[in-house]
Amino acid sequence: IASWLKACAGSLLSAAATGGALLAGVGRLDGAWGRGAASATWAPEQAAVLGAVKTAAWEWPEVCVRAVDLARDDRSGWQHLADELGFYGPLEVGVSPIGVVELGLERVSEGAPGEPILGKESVILAVGGARGVTAAGVLALAGQTGAPVGLIGRTPLEEPVWATGSPDDTSLIRACVATTGCTLRQAQEQAQRVLASREARAMLEELRRVGSRCCYRSADAADAGALRKAVRSIRAELGPIHALVHGAGVLADARIDQLDPAQCARVFEPKAGALGVLLDELAADPLRVVAIYGSSTGRFGRAGQLPYAMANATLAAWAARLRHDRPGIRAFCFDWGPFNGGMVTPGLASLFASEGVGLIEPSSGGEMLARVSACHSHLEIETELVVLAHGSALPVPVRSAGSHPAPPPHPAVAVVADLPGAGDPDADTASRDTAFERLVSVASHPCLEDHVLDGKAVLPLALGMEWMAHAAASGQPGLEIAELADIAVMQGLQLGLGLERRVLAVTSLPVRVDDRVEEAVELLGADDRRPLFRARVRLGRRDPSPRSRHIEARDGGELATGQLSGEAWEPGYGSSLFHGSSWQALEQVRFQGDDRLVALVRGCLAPASMMRSPLRGHWLLDPWAVDGLFQVMILAAQRAGHPGCLPTRISQLRLFGRFDPAGSRLLVHLLRTGPHIMVADAEWEDPSGRVVAQARGVECVIDASLGRAFRKNRILVTGGT
Ligand SMILES: NC(=O)c1ccc[n+]([C@@H]2O[C@H](COP(=O)([O-])OP(=O)(O)OC[C@H]3O[C@@H](n4cnc5c(N)ncnc54)[C@H](OP(=O)(O)O)[C@@H]3O)[C@@H](O)[C@H]2O)c1
Repeated sequence: IASWLKACAGSLLSAAATGGALLAGVGRLDGAWGRGAASATWAPEQAAVLGAVKTAAWEWPEVCVRAVDLARDDRSGWQHLADELGFYGPLEVGVSPIGVVELGLERVSEGAPGEPILGKESVILAVGGARGVTAAGVLALAGQTGAPVGLIGRTPLEEPVWATGSPDDTSLIRACVATTGCTLRQAQEQAQRVLASREARAMLEELRRVGSRCCYRSADAADAGALRKAVRSIRAELGPIHALVHGAGVLADARIDQLDPAQCARVFEPKAGALGVLLDELAADPLRVVAIYGSSTGRFGRAGQLPYAMANATLAAWAARLRHDRPGIRAFCFDWGPFNGGMVTPGLASLFASEGVGLIEPSSGGEMLARVSACHSHLEIETELVVLAHGSALPVPVRSAGSHPAPPPHPAVAVVADLPGAGDPDADTASRDTAFERLVSVASHPCLEDHVLDGKAVLPLALGMEWMAHAAASGQPGLEIAELADIAVMQGLQLGLGLERRVLAVTSLPVRVDDRVEEAVELLGADDRRPLFRARVRLGRRDPSPRSRHIEARDGGELATGQLSGEAWEPGYGSSLFHGSSWQALEQVRFQGDDRLVALVRGCLAPASMMRSPLRGHWLLDPWAVDGLFQVMILAAQRAGHPGCLPTRISQLRLFGRFDPAGSRLLVHLLRTGPHIMVADAEWEDPSGRVVAQARGVECVIDASLGRAFRKNRILVTGGT
């Protein structure tokens, strides 16, 4: 691809100057660049073309650039391709018999980690993990799990005799020249090698310090034979491999017209080529986790980084392919933004600063990788995670303006998560406004006594959402709450009898998004500053109530008459559901097949009946309507044979009007059920049948321990966490 692009650069650019030029990269994956539901018979390497054309788009802005993926089994694919390329349109689309999809980004937060997947008995293989930013991830993973680690890198551990007693770069160069008589340039290279071997030895010491058994093998990941040999030797020493961390990578930046094919291979092979070899070599190992160090360059492209973008785009496709091939494996490609370390030199760091892109601290990136990879979480449905330092500008995806209507974005192809950046002032809540502070106890909030799990009162997410809406609205008088997005449970607030916790609501500076104002809101424990709940709240004019429903009930007729039809299901308060009287929101529940249900939700108690000194005399949302949704999801999980589930995240809650105090009718479409997660969309109607709110991407974690926790629904202990 690189040679071909280099060869046609001149004619493309002159065509662009005279009439117009089109560069199209075509894939033959599944019609969604590997993120579709079709079986995975495609080759991940085909996704390299994505990285190539995205880079070309940055280097050649005058050329119209498209990347189109055709489903392998779509016989009329070439006709679809011709249709698609006949228009200007989004850069990255897939075409399959069911239509055109555009790959889109969805911003999510990390959420609370669930059950661990790796433990002391697991073995981690980390390629490129002895040095650079990957080492921080491997160390965090080893620290969290206690698992033994086998490391592979090119650097030999031993250092030459002349290096003894030379602690740094300058003294090493001096000692090398004096002892070996080599040139200055050769001495500089030798010194870098010695420093690399010290970095690798220090990593091994760190691993032993955190209690991890470890070993190291020197091998070039670009050499398939040497790589396989190193893996076999590690397996022989530590045992079968349960987790693979692939972080090997180098840069060799050059613009397309300066590319050297050998350089391209040097960049592509240790990343993408090596991953293919590793997965083949590990085909019979009990792999549970594959964590891949990709790059934001793979997702967005970057001028001067064509082979690097191609390699990283391939890594992301490998993660998607793996989930198809071996669904028991938790595979992620982390598309990292730049780190404060590793291959980012001071020159590169200032370039990123000028682009508004912050640097991720290696330790916080490493800890995130460990949390996300080693435990179940709601991120399970993603295979590609773009991770940027907090507040970083997103590289704007290049897009040609034009008349072709944009296709619907493909759901959740990639995710953007924020990490505290190096020296990030926003990491400290002091830079944000405190909207309110509240002392929370069972005595001052009697409704908590009716929301008890595992013997402790737990602040419900529905109440947290109400308070976050209040925090945002209090700074924007006169504006209505139009939407809450990226709602996430970070940590539960639990209370025993007689204890109280101070809760703080903080809001970011409001920003304008289209014609609305957006505030990022967080509820924190005031004492330890740990986040409890998080959301982005949008205020302004609400969209009109949609005429057609997003979720059609299976038996549409019954909605008009106000009756519910379907298989009746008892809410079962006190048995199936742990909720006491302050939260007994459900009146009727009807299942309409395995993936659809309808429920009647009672009008919520007044705020003053649920707590002393409420923030307002009326609800901004409706805690019973929202909690009613979580309750029916518990029932749906139980109907599917699970002990229950608890909410962790909601992508979006849109409000079209006020919830009626008389109650609402709730329609739920279950998109996914089990084994560890349940995902649904929901819609609420008022008694006149008008849609008042819609929720998308409601995720609940299913956990084996919940059955016991639900049964202990009386406060048993004094204390709190
Ligand atoms: N730093 C960033 O800002 C950033 C951003 C996004 C993504 N990433 C990705 O993170 C990973 C680590 O990057 P880094 O910044 O830590 O770079 P680094 O400091 O240069 O470290 C690169 C690592 O890869 C290993 N490696 C390189 N080529 C290898 C080969 N052929 N065979 C075996 N091991 C090899 C190196 O070990 P030896 O030298 O001992 O072989 C070293 O452990 C890369 O995959 C990179 O693409 C980094």
